[in-house]
Amino acid sequence: MERILEPELMDDEQHALAYAQADFVEVNRGFVDRFRTTFPDLTRSRVVDLGCGPADVPVRLARLLPALGVTAVDASAAMVRLAREAVQRAGLGASIRLVRARLPALPFASSTFDAVIANSLLHHLAEPGVFWHEVQRLGRPRAGVLVMDLCRPASPSHARDLVETYAGGESPLLKRDFYNSLRAAFTPAEVARQLARQLPQLTCRVVSDRHWVVSGRLP
Ligand SMILES: C[S@@+](CC[C@H](N)C(=O)[O-])C[C@H]1O[C@@H](n2cnc3c(N)ncnc32)[C@H](O)[C@@H]1O
Repeated sequence: MERILEPELMDDEQHALAYAQADFVEVNRGFVDRFRTTFPDLTRSRVVDLGCGPADVPVRLARLLPALGVTAVDASAAMVRLAREAVQRAGLGASIRLVRARLPALPFASSTFDAVIANSLLHHLAEPGVFWHEVQRLGRPRAGVLVMDLCRPASPSHARDLVETYAGGESPLLKRDFYNSLRAAFTPAEVARQLARQLPQLTCRVVSDRHWVVSGRLP
């Protein structure tokens, strides 16, 4: 199935709230556990989360590894507001810094971070090269990289099946967003080609019926 872009930013209040209220516990917990097992040396490091949304991943990460300093970035004012509330509720204001900014013009010097992470951001971007360039720019030499996103299914009917399986009980708004995200996602083969061009040190693996993960170290 052809890739169909969805709106880049989730800056509509209703969409942002529906996303923040959805149940991503299993996926987000898995992402954070993967960070810990992939980078056991990065327990006291500076991590940037690109496209942090309502900050569920930064909150989980900061709880799991309390010595981390997490910079969480999103361009949507509505998402940053929800993220700020979540960080305050968790009492993690000292560990998580929230920044409203938009790729590719992020206000951080090159080589600032020990790790660069992103979950479900890449499929929002029209041009994936912008994302991989920023990952490389922001990480210091040998920085850890952990990026996860959806796999674009082979057909609309497969996408609909995934929506029913994993979001059957969610609101119609969230189900429609999930369907549109699946259609906007990259296939693992496309991601592998992106990495071959820009970051051949990283590898892409399929980790579930709907997710791929890119991990590794920058040169
Ligand atoms: C599907 S959400 C993922 C949120 C979060 N990472 C998670 O795992 O739940 C994607 C987020 O990326 C943000 N985003 C999209 N394009 C962006 C850009 N160019 N710069 C910064 N944030 C962006 C959107 O506003 C949205 O909050």
